[in-house]
Amino acid sequence: MANKVAQDFARAPIFSEAVVKNHSAMDLDSGADIYITDPPYGDAVKYEEIFDFFISWLNKNPPKEFSSWIWDSRRALAIKGEDHDFKLGMVSAYKRMAELMPDNGLQIIMFTHQSGSIWADMANIVWASGLRVTAAWYVVTETDSALREGQYVKGTILLILRKRLQELDTARDELAYELAEEVKTQVDLLTGLNNGVKDLYRDENLFEDADLQMAGYAAALRVLTRYSTIDGVSMPQEAMRPRVRGQTTMVDELIAFAVNIANEYLVPDGVDRAVWEKSVGVERFYLKMLDMESRGIHVLSNYQNFAKAFKVHDYGAVMDEVKANRASLKTAAQLGNRGMTAGEEFGPTVLRSVLYAVHLLQENKVKPEDVLHQLRDLVPDYFRERERITALADYVSKKTAKARPDESSNAMVLRDLVRRERV
Ligand SMILES: C[S@@+](CC[C@H](N)C(=O)[O-])C[C@H]1O[C@@H](n2cnc3c(N)ncnc32)[C@H](O)[C@@H]1O
Repeated sequence: MANKVAQDFARAPIFSEAVVKNHSAMDLDSGADIYITDPPYGDAVKYEEIFDFFISWLNKNPPKEFSSWIWDSRRALAIKGEDHDFKLGMVSAYKRMAELMPDNGLQIIMFTHQSGSIWADMANIVWASGLRVTAAWYVVTETDSALREGQYVKGTILLILRKRLQELDTARDELAYELAEEVKTQVDLLTGLNNGVKDLYRDENLFEDADLQMAGYAAALRVLTRYSTIDGVSMPQEAMRPRVRGQTTMVDELIAFAVNIANEYLVPDGVDRAVWEKSVGVERFYLKMLDMESRGIHVLSNYQNFAKAFKVHDYGAVMDEVKANRASLKTAAQLGNRGMTAGEEFGPTVLRSVLYAVHLLQENKVKPEDVLHQLRDLVPDYFRERERITALADYVSKKTAKARPDESSNAMVLRDLVRRERV
């Protein structure tokens, strides 16, 4: 690994006066061209409490060299909470920095959070502070651990902000196109990086779905905060309105829309782009969730989110369990020959026919050649679909290898039957 890290870093030392001042960001009094901040993220970590813990520990035996220090966690000054107070605290800090910054100055904010409403608040904070997001860089900050796999963000976003000097307005409908483009570009970039480092990290993903969703939030911020007015509404004013419990704001909706688009682009590991593009919503849903299940993730909200992203009408029809942390898809055997009719959502799809054929092989009541016959009858335009059928059977086989070895080996039998079939 050591030789993969560059030894000759480019250096750009900065020589300047350095002053350390201990006060709240809202009380800044000296200007700067660049502000780099790492604010608290909602209530994710309660820094004041951590400080208090260390203070009480240090106070038992206070270090001599710090004898002039005042041991206080400054609890009252901390920006806390997840709702209006968090927003107000953040706005007073960032507005103050924007005021002290020249027109060509910039701010870099490190931010990471999985909740859409916190990102909506972040958009509001940017608006109300007179700033706009011009770029977002994703930095991987977490090392891997089996415990963290799949669902957790592995990085932090560096948001680059500048002053919002123009008063641009837009309409919600137009924003939809812009958001879709921006999110797609951002997700493509991260997916490209994922593939680019595959060899380096031995097949492990640099970014997980949660990261790509977060990239969707950041991309949304870049589009949204460019505008001062949306559908005639002044966003900086709107941004300061307290949240009404149970009500979703326009910004919440736009952020949710962006993340939905990000979800649509989350091609599961092991699925070829071409296969993915030919798959309909419910097939994508099944493939995606099979991938999550193969990594031991069974969280119901994931099934709900992806059903929404892939526009599945009745995802319940392909579910075995719908429990909060123990949700699961129906297996090939559980699906059996149910719901195969044309009127059903999953029934007429190629994946459903593949799962049916796997089920027949598993049952072992009909000869493999006859299973192949049935498959030919079921899949319209069978000969053109053969490649997709083998790819899907291969995928099902790989993803069920650990949890359902029998289904896995029968899917492999099916793959080979179709592959070797004389045409
Ligand atoms: C994410 S942490 C920063 C971590 C730090 N960059 C590091 O790597 O150790 C957020 C910090 O913001 C501080 N903070 C909270 N409210 C503040 C305020 N009003 N002004 C300045 N700092 C504040 C918290 O005390 C906490 O230390």
